[in-house]
Parts: sequence; structure tokens; C-alpha cells
Amino acid sequence: MSKADIGLIGLAVMGQNLVLNMERNGYTVAVFNRTTARTLQFVHRNPDKRLVQAKTLEELVSSLQRPRIVMIMVQAGPAVDKVLDQLIPLLEPGDLILDNGNSHFQDTDRRSDYVRSRELEFMGIGVSGGEEGALWGPSIMPGGSRESYRQVAEIFGAISAKAPSDGIPCVDYMGPRGAGHYVKMVHNAIEYGDMQLIAECYDLMHRGLGMSNTDLADTFTLWNEGELDSFLIEITAQIFRATDAETSNSLVDVVLDTAAQKGTGKWASQDAFDIGAPIPTINAAVVGRIQSSQKKERVQAAQHLPGPKANRYDGDPDSLKEAIRQALYASKISAYAQGMSMLGLASREYEYELDLGRIASVWRAGCIIRAGFLEDITRAYTQNPNLTNLLLDPNIRDAVAVRLPAWRQVVATAVQWGIPVPGLSASLAYYDAYRSERLPANLIQAQRDLFGAHTYQRVDREGTFHSNWT
Ligand code: ATR
Repeated sequence: MSKADIGLIGLAVMGQNLVLNMERNGYTVAVFNRTTARTLQFVHRNPDKRLVQAKTLEELVSSLQRPRIVMIMVQAGPAVDKVLDQLIPLLEPGDLILDNGNSHFQDTDRRSDYVRSRELEFMGIGVSGGEEGALWGPSIMPGGSRESYRQVAEIFGAISAKAPSDGIPCVDYMGPRGAGHYVKMVHNAIEYGDMQLIAECYDLMHRGLGMSNTDLADTFTLWNEGELDSFLIEITAQIFRATDAETSNSLVDVVLDTAAQKGTGKWASQDAFDIGAPIPTINAAVVGRIQSSQKKERVQAAQHLPGPKANRYDGDPDSLKEAIRQALYASKISAYAQGMSMLGLASREYEYELDLGRIASVWRAGCIIRAGFLEDITRAYTQNPNLTNLLLDPNIRDAVAVRLPAWRQVVATAVQWGIPVPGLSASLAYYDAYRSERLPANLIQAQRDLFGAHTYQRVDREGTFHSNWT
């Protein structure tokens, strides 16, 4: 029997769909799952496919052509280390292990060193696109050595999404060790930001302007036809049209208002604090989810804490709605600028050799944050690979500039209404802080020096100074 091209360990939905995607693209895939029943069911359900079922890891390994490529798609965390420990003794020098799960980049850095010390190759692969993406074409962010990437470039090129504008596969080499998982983490963090921003616009239009779910569905459908064209806006429109089978009410209204999280947003915020990357919109999105989860406390506080009286909006609702659309677009630009700038900082900090243009290009299709706007970001970094901040690209700068009045109006209105917009306002504050030649940090340094003799630098000459302030 001819040998399989690639092996996959972990047949949960993402693993199964990646297998089916590879098989559809002409590859023979050997499959293994810890619980054998899952392997057998999967192969049984797909009788006509080029699959090799393996009941043991030994069977899996011996069914693969050499050098072997084994993809691990199990729960992130200790399960990956367990599988590695079982797999490594079965492999031979030159074989390549891929971790396609949502591993923390520091785990991937560590595992890269460990696996390579055993004369095997290792790659950490960020995969985005959910179950559908895994099946029909995800965005793929591989990290590891360039030689390893060459080994998987063809297969990943075949199974990945293709950008609608030029058909280029949404996969590219990201950088060494944990670079791929780092990029995936920042992708998810931007996704957190996008979702928070959209939710705030919903709140403003629903609670503030009293729009119905049908109006909201129509509005997001319309928005999706313009500059906000993106997967997340598209599904938002679909959500507002869905009906609850049990009550016949709008389905979104029966969903409890507490947002869960699996942790990639939090990881990004944690690392941003570590490397000194300002990503206020993403932090606001993580905090927003945490605060939403305090439902019981909020219900109680709502009885006690006063806010502005809900008056009818006496301006033109259509013009405010348009301002909200513009504020969302500008805020989205700000959030992406934060994420890209964090990638630049991380690249230096961790020696990941990231290319921001390539990253934006890989995000153009297949992943959750896919959007027409990513074409503009790709162009910005392709034209100027040394761009310090996305906001400084002339086209992006102008796009923000014309939307500034609307952006400020929306944030100001939300504050007056008492509707929280942590994402929209953090995005605007990031913009205003970034364009401020002088921030009030001089006062903070003075305070630090007064109470702790932490010293300060002067604007008029070099050196470190301490003063007796009192
Ligand atoms: P889901 O909830 O989608 O089933 P999951 O619990 O995250 O996903 O598990 C995903 C995959 O990781 C499964 O294939 C699981 O194997 P089982 O079907 O045997 O549960 C696999 N997995 C989890 N922990 C594992 C471990 N320690 N060793 C091997 N595989 C593991």
C-alpha cells in the first residue's frame, strides 16, 4: 500500500475538517485520535476518502512516507506536551511535527527548542477560520524554520483560503519558533476588538436610537456593502435576522448578555503589558467581556446607581447612525494600528522577523477578521515596509481624518447617554495620544520623583535629575 502524505492526531471537529480539506485537495491522510472510537467513526463516515486509520501512534507513524509530517490538533496546553512525549520516540531525524492548535507562543518557543534538541523539526501553526474555514480554506500562520516551511508550503497553499482580489493563498511564512502562534494570538486580539466595537455600535443604535432588530439587520447588511465589508459585519446582520424556534422572538434577545472567552485576547493583553505595547482597544475588549460576566452584580447595581435619564434623541437619527458607521470604521483602523504596532514590537523583542505586509495579506481571507479593509493594510505595508504605525500611511491617515468629527460626536453622545463605549473611546484616545506631541506624563514623572526619588529627564538637556519638590 502506498504511504500517506501526512498524519493528523486529534479528530475533534477542527481536526476532522482539516483532514477532509487536505483529502479533498488530493492528499492521503493518516488519522489517529486518543479515543479510538472517534477514529473509527470518522473513517467509517468517510468511506470513499483517501484516509488511513491508525489505532495506535505506532500505526500512524509507520503509515507515513518519509520524511514524515505529523500534524497535532489536540486541546491546547498539557495535551500537546503529552502527545509530543509519546510521538517523539517513534519518529526519525528530519521528521516534522506541526502543532496546529491554539498554543501559547511561549509554549511553542519552548517546544521548538525541545523537539529540535531531539533532532526533529517542529512548527507552531496558527489556523483561523473556525470549523468552516478548516474545511473550506482557513488562513494559516506557520512559524518554525524556513526549511520546514518549504516542506509544508505546497499542502498549506492547497488547503488555505485564497484572497478574493488576486487569488493568492492566505498562508505565508511568519517567522521562527512561536512566530505563527504569536501572529494568531494578535489576530484573535484584533477579533476581540472588532467584536467589542460592533457590539458597542449595536448598543448605541438599539438602546440609544431605539432601532429594532430588523432595522439593525438592514443597517449591518448595508454597512457590509461599503468600506466595512467584512465577515464579522456580515454575520452580525445574519444574527439580527435569526428567530428563536422556541419563543419566535428574535434569537439575539434571548441570549444572556455575558461574553465568555477562551483566553487568546487575555494572552495578548498580558504580553502587551510585558513588551510595552499600547493596545487599549483590545484591553477594553477583554475587560468588556469580564465586566459583562458580572451579570448578577450588574443587575443589582442597576437598581441603585443613577445615570442620565433616557430622553428621546432630538437630533437626526439617520445622521447619528451614519456617524456611528464612520466611528466604527475609524475605531477599527485604530485597533488594527495597535495590533500591527504590537507585532512590530514583538518581532524585535522575540526576534520573530515578522513582515507586517505578509501578515495583513494572510488575513485577507479565511480568518475571522477577514475584511476588505485588509487590502488597504496590505498595500500600506507593501508600499512602505518600514511604516512605524498604520495611522501614518497617507491613505489611512486621510481616511481617519475625514471621519474624526463623526468619531468624536459618537463618543461624546455615548458619554452623555451613559452608554458604555470602552472600545470606541479607547480607540479614539489611542489616536489622540499618538498624535500628541506632549502628554501630561511630565506631571507623572514629577510625582514619581517627589514621592520616590525616581528621577526624571529634562526637555532642555541630557541627563537624569532629581529635585527637592517641596
Ligand atoms: P472537543 O471539545 O471539540 O472534543 P477537545 O476536548 O479540546 O475538543 O479535544 C480535542 C482533541 O484533543 C480530541 O481529539 C481529544 O481526544 P479525545 O477524542 O480522545 O478526547 C484530544 N485530546 C485531548 N487531550 C488529549 C491528550 N491528553 N492526549 C491526546 N489527545 C488529547
